[in-house]
Amino acid sequence: MIIAIDGPAGSGKSTVAQLIASRLNFKYIETGSMYRAVAWKAQQAGIDPGDTERVAEVARTISIEFQPGAERQKVMVDGEDLTPVLKTETIGRLAAIVAANKAVREIMVAQQQNMGQNGNAVMDGRDIGTVVFPDAEKKFFLVADQKERAQRRHEEIKAKHPEVTFERIYEQLQQRDYEDENREVSPLVPAKDSIRLDTTQMNIDDVVAQMIEMIGPVHSQ
Ligand code: DC
Repeated sequence: MIIAIDGPAGSGKSTVAQLIASRLNFKYIETGSMYRAVAWKAQQAGIDPGDTERVAEVARTISIEFQPGAERQKVMVDGEDLTPVLKTETIGRLAAIVAANKAVREIMVAQQQNMGQNGNAVMDGRDIGTVVFPDAEKKFFLVADQKERAQRRHEEIKAKHPEVTFERIYEQLQQRDYEDENREVSPLVPAKDSIRLDTTQMNIDDVVAQMIEMIGPVHSQ
């Protein structure tokens, strides 16, 4: 069984997806971190993120693996744990450019299909229900008001980065939404058969409980 969870940045996808995966004892595949990993590696090699050929070469040679961690799952890139590094806003910005690269998307989508081929996986991203697993048994599309999403992100980072204002986060989120929704290749759109869940007024536990109920009984394969 594949559970696809798509939606814009800050909609709570990865937190929810990780919780659902651990509740159901499924694999969790966070596809956004794969685009982030390619962006990071290109940056390390001094490659311009807009250089489609060279970035595609990075995507062809990179090794990305997910490993269980104490609290959160770890993202191993060429054998190195890059989990915290990949989460930064700088890498997020570069990842948005890299994710618009057609060749990179083809390589990443093939890897994601490979990772999920044995079933029982929760996969989150932007195009899981539309492109990666159009036949996924359950598809969710999580949304939340832009201001609420910016607020959540601000709450998350303000202790560590008091210098980052709400206004700045809100601006970056608007920009990210625009890029994700307007790129030529696989723009962010809900799959026609996805369940749309507006999480603006909901807390994480309620979202997870509601989704688990909608998923229903899970058969092991
Ligand atoms: O979810 P995230 O912020 O970690 O994603 C990073 C970037 O990658 C973001 O610009 C959207 C893009 N992305 C994508 O295009 N397709 C996916 N399946 C996952 C992420």
